[in-house]
Amino acid sequence: MGLFTKKPIAKLIVDSSDGEKSLKRTLGAGNLVALGIGAIIGAGLFVRTAAAAAYNAGPSVTIGFIVAAIGCAFAGLCYAEFASMIPIAGSAYTYSYATMGELVAWIIGWDLVLEYAVGAATVGIAWSEYLNKLLEIFGFHVPYRWSHSPFEVCDGTGAFAAEAGVHGMMNVPALFIILMLTMLLIRGTKESAVVNGIIVISKVAIVLLFIVLGWSFINPANHEHYIPEATKFIDSQGISHNYGGIWGILGAAGVVFFAFIGFDAVSTAAQEAKNPKKDMPIGILGSLVICTILYILFAHVLTGVANVNDFRTQGKEASVAYAINTYMTGYGWLANMVTVAILFGFSSVILVMLMGQSRVFYSMSRDGLVPKVFSDLHPKFHTPYKSNWIFFVLVGAFAAFVPGDIVGDMTSIGTLFAFILVCAGVWILRRTDPDLPRQFKVPAVPVVSTLGIAVCAAMVAGLGPTNWLRLIVWLAIGLVIYFGYSKRNSKLGK
Ligand code: ALA
Repeated sequence: MGLFTKKPIAKLIVDSSDGEKSLKRTLGAGNLVALGIGAIIGAGLFVRTAAAAAYNAGPSVTIGFIVAAIGCAFAGLCYAEFASMIPIAGSAYTYSYATMGELVAWIIGWDLVLEYAVGAATVGIAWSEYLNKLLEIFGFHVPYRWSHSPFEVCDGTGAFAAEAGVHGMMNVPALFIILMLTMLLIRGTKESAVVNGIIVISKVAIVLLFIVLGWSFINPANHEHYIPEATKFIDSQGISHNYGGIWGILGAAGVVFFAFIGFDAVSTAAQEAKNPKKDMPIGILGSLVICTILYILFAHVLTGVANVNDFRTQGKEASVAYAINTYMTGYGWLANMVTVAILFGFSSVILVMLMGQSRVFYSMSRDGLVPKVFSDLHPKFHTPYKSNWIFFVLVGAFAAFVPGDIVGDMTSIGTLFAFILVCAGVWILRRTDPDLPRQFKVPAVPVVSTLGIAVCAAMVAGLGPTNWLRLIVWLAIGLVIYFGYSKRNSKLGK
């Protein structure tokens, strides 16, 4: 038994059926698309789009969305094949344990902490920005010091005019929302279809309203240099970004890739799909196509209504509300509506991410790769409450003390890396186990899987050396834990 020990698929299915009740096949393609959209639209669109325009690509952030969508479509097909082959509610971790062995599974499981836990922190920070927008309607706001990380300094713009030069200390609202949702999760929330439906409709409605109403406020001057000339842009933390040109677009693609994270949630519902062979690809690709179209139009309008300079200064935070308030005269109500819808919409995204995180570590703990506390269940609520509290500390620390740009890009790069491994996994498994039953098969392997790897790798390249370093450090810490603890405690290893 060694690094490449694989967990037999039959055992996976037995393990899952003694832990989880078997799920009913009730979801059709339409439900799956709604599930996807509910998990997808969030901080990526309402916060990271403006950051990508400001630091990377200007208006050509729209092209960045196209690149990110292509990478997601290829990777999404690969996710769908795994999901149809290993018909248990799972994630990239479970798939890779069965197909590529323990070490790769560990790397993916560890890497998914970036997607889920650090992702939740990113959305928490975005929530904090929009909370301040909401409070401004009532004439006050959380002081800069208590709504920003210690790595940020107030530039005195917008509502923070009187606080120029103040250093952030702790992002209290971000910590607060993570705490609230952790408590909700521990009580055992099964997000009801009705609540999810309302959130999906309100998110799509505000995106459509902004596109339709904002269209006539597009200032052609803002779109003049649609793909800006290639230069460097140094942000307020002193980090240099490739701005403009092809590298700007790839960098923007890596940043806004965040906006697509969550569509893999559809693949985790494989077991509940009525007809997985047909419905899974429709669910995954359908939600991707709808979101991509909405995102491109939204980004086109946003960068046309306000300009890049706004997104670097006063409009840096809660950019959508800023753009409406500043340039769309008479539409103050829309800014308020967007703000409220966003606060609810972000909460549901955070909840899904926190839940995904505890599920992955629950599986890893049952496999012995992480300590047992991660699978201890609450006596009454039957949720992994200890795990939820441990992750509250980690996610809360990121949300309270790290800037949103940094955690956002860490989430993107971590998830891109997981996608690359999943694409590789599909291809490897076609060669090593060609006869395993697959209810859904990715067309044209290895072309599609290779293209998936290539596009995701291009986005990783676009995210730049600082982010590569962060990913390498994160993975190195993971390897130390694997060889120090997990390898010895692995149940399969024993
Ligand atoms: N796609 C999700 C968001 O943008 C994670 O918030």
